[in-house]
Amino acid sequence: MKTAVVYFSLFGANEKIASKLSEELRGKIHRIQEIKQRKKGFALYFTGGFQAIFGISSKIKDMDFKIDDYDSLILEGPLWGGLPCPALNAFVEKTDFTGKKVGIFLTTTGGNAVVALKKLSDKIEQRGGNCLVADYYNVFKLSSEKMLDKTREYAEHFKKSIKNIRGTK
Ligand SMILES: Cc1cc2nc3c(=O)[nH]c(=O)nc-3n(C[C@H](O)[C@H](O)[C@H](O)COP(=O)(O)O)c2cc1C
Repeated sequence: MKTAVVYFSLFGANEKIASKLSEELRGKIHRIQEIKQRKKGFALYFTGGFQAIFGISSKIKDMDFKIDDYDSLILEGPLWGGLPCPALNAFVEKTDFTGKKVGIFLTTTGGNAVVALKKLSDKIEQRGGNCLVADYYNVFKLSSEKMLDKTREYAEHFKKSIKNIRGTK
């Protein structure tokens, strides 16, 4: 079972999580990068939040990633404006997930990500993917160590879900 960990991170939390997930799942990491670099000031919360709320995708760089090289993937990144950030939207819109087992993982600073997870999983399933596990974490609440523990739990859950699917074949 070959797994990819595909992530977007602006402030670094998702980068750490991606690294832990790839270690746990022996997966290869692929970073989503926006073409236009965002300035990390006050205005970011208006522009980025606005784009996320209206489901707008940002322009992302071409990636050295071929989904056909993998059986499963985890997509992770931050919650912006209560919804998936524009770079995650862009990745999903340009990817055909047909036949792939997908895990979704979002980070927040206290917001509820249930609606965002549902929107993302609906989009992925419309594009042929099978979303197995979706979860989110508050990066403010959890210390780095706890965040890595939660990440390990998530990876275990993902592995078990894949095994359960195989078991029903
Ligand atoms: C434009 C913008 C909007 C955000 N909106 C929310 C939000 O609605 N709810 C929330 O809990 N956190 C929000 N955040 C905080 C992000 O979720 C947080 O920065 C992210 O989880 C950290 O991940 P990263 O370090 O990988 O970038 C927002 C951050 C940005 C930059």
